[in-house]
Amino acid sequence: MATSLLDALGELRHQGLAKLAACATSVDLAEWQNTYLGRQDGRLTAILRGLRDVPAEDRKAIGQAANDLKVELEAALAARRADISARELTATLTSERIDVTLPARSLPRGGLHPITRTMRDICRVFSQMGFHIVEGPEVETDYYNFQALNIPADHPARDMQDTFWVVPGQILLRTQTSPNQIRIMEQTRPPVRAVVPGKVYRNEATDATHEAMFHQIEGLLVDRTTTMRDLRGCLERFAREIFGPRTAVRFRPSYFPFTEPSAEVDVTCVVCGGSGCRVCKYSGWVEIAGSGMVHPQVLRVVNYDPTVYRGFAFGMGVERIAMMRYGIDEIRLFSQNDLRFLSQF
Ligand code: FA5
Repeated sequence: MATSLLDALGELRHQGLAKLAACATSVDLAEWQNTYLGRQDGRLTAILRGLRDVPAEDRKAIGQAANDLKVELEAALAARRADISARELTATLTSERIDVTLPARSLPRGGLHPITRTMRDICRVFSQMGFHIVEGPEVETDYYNFQALNIPADHPARDMQDTFWVVPGQILLRTQTSPNQIRIMEQTRPPVRAVVPGKVYRNEATDATHEAMFHQIEGLLVDRTTTMRDLRGCLERFAREIFGPRTAVRFRPSYFPFTEPSAEVDVTCVVCGGSGCRVCKYSGWVEIAGSGMVHPQVLRVVNYDPTVYRGFAFGMGVERIAMMRYGIDEIRLFSQNDLRFLSQF
């Protein structure tokens, strides 16, 4: 009995140490500990249970051998555990390694929309010429958008600007920034020098150069001696600042009910240099503004005496200007919110 127990202990030692050496992970180790040293049904415990049947004189020696084996196996387990956890730690550190010297991942940076940028640049040019920058409402009354501008209810000029009505015949989305001529003059006495940037709305079919919502910048200057030459000088300076020193400006006779005389303002097409392209409709010129001398009737509406004061006004299309500046031949790109387009600016 005693000999067979000693043999079993020898066998357990041999096998246990061999299996321990084969353990590769801390999970293997936990399993091994359960199998060999488990208190309830570990193999050493099983052998020690047999001790009851050993004659008293042998019991001490076998008990001592079993205890020595337990100590030996526990020490071997501790050593193996230290070894494996060191290896596991190294593996984790290698696989989860962070290179703190790498540059930080940058956040996507926003930028100004090309229309915003163009509006600011234009306003800056006029601001340098002494113009105030003013804003007005996008939802307007029929009075400011049409009537006060010498466009009565049955006037054919209303057909030029198909209107989005909020309350038919009374309240509308402004079709132009010109109502601000009236708003400004109602609130100030001459001399007046102001530009008004903002959105305008027209119920019209869109194409490469027409949008239903676009931006205008209104300009208004009223003084005692203002002439059409001042208007031209002012717009030429603006065109050179925005499009470059060689840009030419052309006035074409036109008609607006609130200016007399009136002119369309064209500049040489920057996209093709004047040779003709889709943007300029193969004419070499792009219309960027309507303009003229403020109509005496408009001056009377705001109680300015037309025999004392004269003024000029213009309203330019910001999208058309931005298209030329950046060489864009499709106006609808501005409002499609496509980052592939917008991130180029
Ligand atoms: C006007 O809107 C007048 N209020 C301009 C004016 C102001 C004349 C002061 C006299 C005195 P017009 O409808 O031509 O005029 O528009 C002015 C500019 O806006 C045009 O030259 C063009 O550059 C731009 N524009 C007009 N319609 C569109 C559209 N659908 N899409 C984009 N730009 C447009």
